[in-house]
Amino acid sequence: MKQFLTVQDGGNIKKLLEEARYVKWNPFADQALGKNKTMLMVFFNSSLRTRLSTQKAAMNLGMNTIVLDINQGAWKLETERGVVMDSDKSEHILEAIPVMGSYCDIIGVRSFAKFENRDEDLNEVILKQFIQYSGKPVISLESATRHPLQALADLITIEEHKKSSKPKIVMSWAPHPKALPQAVPNSFAEWMVAAGYDLTITHPKGYELDPKVTAGAKIEYDQDKAFEGADFVYAKNWSCWNEENYGKVISKDMNWMVDKEKMALTNNAFFMHCLPVRRNMIVSDEVIESKTSLVIPEAANRVVSAQTIIKKILKSL
Ligand code: CP
Repeated sequence: MKQFLTVQDGGNIKKLLEEARYVKWNPFADQALGKNKTMLMVFFNSSLRTRLSTQKAAMNLGMNTIVLDINQGAWKLETERGVVMDSDKSEHILEAIPVMGSYCDIIGVRSFAKFENRDEDLNEVILKQFIQYSGKPVISLESATRHPLQALADLITIEEHKKSSKPKIVMSWAPHPKALPQAVPNSFAEWMVAAGYDLTITHPKGYELDPKVTAGAKIEYDQDKAFEGADFVYAKNWSCWNEENYGKVISKDMNWMVDKEKMALTNNAFFMHCLPVRRNMIVSDEVIESKTSLVIPEAANRVVSAQTIIKKILKSL
């Protein structure tokens, strides 16, 4: 494996899940693999789970780790080529990336959608520059349009809890005060369809995701109807993807919050969310604290998903 940016990079899902199971139950079996190798994680945005779980995963594999918060202590980066650099941006990303690449063996990058320019976000301008100029394998720690390490952890968690071979999974939009990217729902949809699950996506009109991403899933605008018979409910907010309202919040309808009454419509479904979550906006206290809430084991599986992927890349170095 030379990079991990999308579901396609994961290869055969069944095999990947077998590898994840091995990693989960043998976390220190491959300590020699990462000896004298360095994992660099570069964050353009905040993180709790991705930062800690990826660092832990790399350490389990015997690697050294370095974390750089671009917005705290690093030089402010210019990302456009051809500009006269007379602003507060002291360093160009075209020098910074190869320098970072020279200090590590694998590089992880978190670079959210900025919502300033739709084409720039959809074209993954920052991530692509790391791929082109770092000279090292790149792992997405959540890009403008995808969050594959999260989706793999979600898949591992569902595999551990499913009661049938093809569970009904419902991904539900829920209200949030600020505009959030589509990266998590995009990856979740792609990975659930690739795993062969029965996926229904429910959201208010205007919040349609890229149809290429949701191919193979059912779209249901009636949230109550979508929840009927669900085995897993995956709540998530996202902002508009369509050209007209890209990155905008057009609804904060609190009727879409996942609460006890909504969960009663399901097949005693497990509740999932990638975290961080806004309680009593996305989900009620009662539901997130219930016995069927998987948010903590789901977050714990982020170590397993990161370790599975880093191990595959280390083996290919
Ligand atoms: N789910 C997730 O990626 O969490 P962080 O943003 O805290 O890394």
